[in-house]
Amino acid sequence: MARVLSGIQPSGDLHLGNYFGAVRNWVQDQDTADAYFCIVDLHALTLSIDPGVLRRQTLDAACVLLASGLDPARCTLFVQSHVPAHQQLTWLLECTATMGELRRMTQFKDKGGGQESVRVGLFTYPVLMAADILLYDADQVPVGDDQRQHLELTREIAGRFNHRYGDIFTVPQATIPKVGARVMDLQAPDRKMSKSSGSPLGTVGIMDSPDEIVRKVKKAVTDTDGVVAWDPSAKPGVTNLLSLLGAATGQDPEALAGSYDRYGDLKGAVSEALIEALAPLQDHYRELTDDPGGVMAILREGSTRAAQVAEATYLRAADAVGLLRP
Ligand code: TYM
Repeated sequence: MARVLSGIQPSGDLHLGNYFGAVRNWVQDQDTADAYFCIVDLHALTLSIDPGVLRRQTLDAACVLLASGLDPARCTLFVQSHVPAHQQLTWLLECTATMGELRRMTQFKDKGGGQESVRVGLFTYPVLMAADILLYDADQVPVGDDQRQHLELTREIAGRFNHRYGDIFTVPQATIPKVGARVMDLQAPDRKMSKSSGSPLGTVGIMDSPDEIVRKVKKAVTDTDGVVAWDPSAKPGVTNLLSLLGAATGQDPEALAGSYDRYGDLKGAVSEALIEALAPLQDHYRELTDDPGGVMAILREGSTRAAQVAEATYLRAADAVGLLRP
């Protein structure tokens, strides 16, 4: 059985990009793979975050993931900082990766903005991510399109380590969905939907109410020629709406263009499909938030299972580089 690992930052309200680009696909992976999913709280420290907010959002992310259909009987769900091997392996990989490689990461360039005051953790972020993946011998990493470059780096680091020290790591592959891999901001459809840099009206949260969804979709930026057509470069707004409709209904987004004459009709269909797709998950979420003790127990059990796999891989790597066992 293939091993799958992926991760998500507890960065507040998770949005449609997280859902269609990643989480929804994880739910399917549970039935076909030995699946590990990680809430990456250490990665959230790369940007300024209040301690209480981080704690609350970490538990909340667990509730959203469970509500979305992750099932602790069929996958291992855990919090990154609960498994110390992630930080231990990161050091070994930092001594493998190069400054030049990390400097080329577009996410660092975007978030760091070229400032001297940028945190070192933001720079080395992709190395921690590589550790997350390599510790579990993951064959596949289901992610949205924006993580493609980080996966390439992970493969590069794993290959270099293996070349130097023997066959220690499995070299993973990114699995990027055909539809929903790049959900764009509704207000600025040339930018990806994102909690940290997106506009509030342009970002639809998984937990948004039907009224909020209708309001945001109605205000979504389109263009002035009035033709519903699939054209990512000339008509990014309309194309994004079609791709959301495709993602929510399971239909081919390009073919859907022929079914609508007016933007208003398309927007109505998109809101309706999103509300319908999110309703079951929102109901389940409310039950889970009423039982934080139960969710904590799931995370504790997950981290125990994850640590068994991760510690064994870390020891293999530590032995290989020549660290003396205690
Ligand atoms: P994060 O927390 O930003 O996003 C979690 C997942 O959601 C996907 N995603 C999107 N997909 C489509 N359209 C969008 N607009 C959109 N925005 C986000 C992301 O591609 C991701 O799959 N570095 C990672 C977290 C991470 C990780 C890992 C992932 C840490 N360690 C190990 C995989 C394996 C991140 O910040 O994702």
